[in-house]
Amino acid sequence: MAELATVAMHVDSREKSSPHRSRKMNFACKKLFTSASRALLVRKNLKDLPLKTFSTEILQPKAQKETITINFMKNGSKIPAKAKVGDHLLDVVIDNDIDLDGFGACEGTLSCSTCHLIFTDEQFKIIGTKPTDEELDMLDLAYDLVDTSRLGCQVFVTKEMNGWEIEVPAGVSDARDV
Ligand code: FES
Repeated sequence: MAELATVAMHVDSREKSSPHRSRKMNFACKKLFTSASRALLVRKNLKDLPLKTFSTEILQPKAQKETITINFMKNGSKIPAKAKVGDHLLDVVIDNDIDLDGFGACEGTLSCSTCHLIFTDEQFKIIGTKPTDEELDMLDLAYDLVDTSRLGCQVFVTKEMNGWEIEVPAGVSDARDV
């Protein structure tokens, strides 16, 4: 605001020397005052406004994950489970409260190998992801390892798995105890 006052004083002194130029300057100065004070007003008003945030989650309901059925086979028993597409097989065991002794002991942090599962050759080919080096290292320590073994915490549920029977080994080996 101090700068604006200086401009006004300058215009006032010019008015005495040249009335024509002074009118032009006066108009320019008025414009400057108007836009500057408007900007100050807007800024003040904005500052006083309560801050509002909008969540897109309210506007867009979450898409429901498709659910399929997967059967875990343990010691000859078939344990059916509802599985959400996109979840890990470890999540399926947990969400369905399936009592598999020691299964998923490290909670999916890839450090125990207790979530070892055995697939058929056909199933193994269909699984969307290949095992990483870390998973293979952990599988080396798994109980009853076979060529089609995977860790349940690393395998995502896909639609193709609907109705699958997946074998749970008879025992577990916790890599953290080795
Ligand atoms: S839950 Fe431990 S490695 Fe999968």
